[in-house]
Amino acid sequence: MTSILLTGISELWTLDPELDDPASPGTVTDDQLRHDAALVIDDGIVAWSGPAAETPPTDQRVDLGGRAVLPGWVDSHSHLIFDGDRAAEFEARMAGEAYAAGGIGVTTSATRSATDDRLRALVRGRIAEAVAGGTTTLETKTGYGLTVEHELRAARLASELVREGELDEATFLGAHLVPAEFDGREGRPGAEDYVALVTGEMLFAVAPHVRWIDVFCEEGAFDPEQSERVLRAGAEAGLGLRVHGNQLGRSGGVALAAGLGAASVDHVNHLSAADVEALAATASRPTRPATSSGSPAAAPGSTVISPGRADVSGRLAVDAGPTVATVLPACDLSTRAPLAPARDLLDAGAAVAIASNCNPGTSYTSSMSFCVATAVLQMRLSLAEAIHAATRGGALALRRGDVGHLAVGARADLHVLDAPAAIHLAYRPGMPLTHEVWRAGVPQR
Ligand code: NIG
Repeated sequence: MTSILLTGISELWTLDPELDDPASPGTVTDDQLRHDAALVIDDGIVAWSGPAAETPPTDQRVDLGGRAVLPGWVDSHSHLIFDGDRAAEFEARMAGEAYAAGGIGVTTSATRSATDDRLRALVRGRIAEAVAGGTTTLETKTGYGLTVEHELRAARLASELVREGELDEATFLGAHLVPAEFDGREGRPGAEDYVALVTGEMLFAVAPHVRWIDVFCEEGAFDPEQSERVLRAGAEAGLGLRVHGNQLGRSGGVALAAGLGAASVDHVNHLSAADVEALAATASRPTRPATSSGSPAAAPGSTVISPGRADVSGRLAVDAGPTVATVLPACDLSTRAPLAPARDLLDAGAAVAIASNCNPGTSYTSSMSFCVATAVLQMRLSLAEAIHAATRGGALALRRGDVGHLAVGARADLHVLDAPAAIHLAYRPGMPLTHEVWRAGVPQR
């Protein structure tokens, strides 16, 4: 396999886990950011990085012309498997309507009607958009099917795309909303029947295709007790836990996620001091390497790379490590919600990730650069904190050690900016600053 030397790197954000400062988690140390640097990729993996003046011999050389290089974004929360849009709902919201979970039903109807080929083409188009913006690791969820047949179809599609190397992680979100046919009226089944379906037949059908289970724990969706049943059933089926929590109010989702050892709780807009403390208290829970290839949907090459260095292994165990507080800045803006208190979470010592939450209802963008700029400009994160949250934070939320950084042994996922310094991401918000994207050592654009 050809080795490639990249030169002309004004800033190289390696975020090497071995150089973490335990006293300052969630940010980037001086040693994790190199200036005037070079990097070698060998067989899709980072093989070396160091000063530009000390480069080793390689087969090929590429001059990046004095640009900043980051790890590709790790987007740990998206809902890409859908048809139709909800522009009219968005417009009404901008005119004063509140967001309510019921809109999920509109997308569910449109998605159920889509042909397999159409759905696949739509998802692939959305992945391409995300990659064009610098995203190189992408999770996505089912959740707009809500029947055994349609959830299974979405899970199969996601797992195929994981196997083909287009997606990285697949999540079962049958507990997104109780569908209309379970409204309990006129002899029809009710919410409890739907929970029984999700935790029974639907879970058994979907679990072989995904690594994660998620639940929307919120008024209008699933209460904490129902959510707990969903999560426990998922854990029993061998899945890692994720939670949509505290988006619209103090739903109890955060306490549930922290208590059950979920890998991530996402949204976190409405937090009590106890919620922040509970998340911070999980930060010291150690991760450990997965004992096998992990997900049934594991991508080729994602097994342990370097057993001596746990943090550059592929998948980490889903049942160990912190509950990451995943903030979704684009969603907060698009729903005019109070911004998630990312500053307070970091100050308290919680692990924080930034994700796009790309979906047609609350956040119809996959632009992680936009989310990072918003986190800096509106959530009061430093640039280094925001970059860490959108790379290493997302990787931790997905229990992935091989992505989100550019240490030796990492997957060679690079986001080359059309700027000499990464601060341009927030300094020039909304500008097209992605110059090139490399995934596993292969240029994507
Ligand atoms: O993460 N909150 C629940 N699920 C999505 C929204 C889905 C929708 O409204 O279509 C979210 O924001």
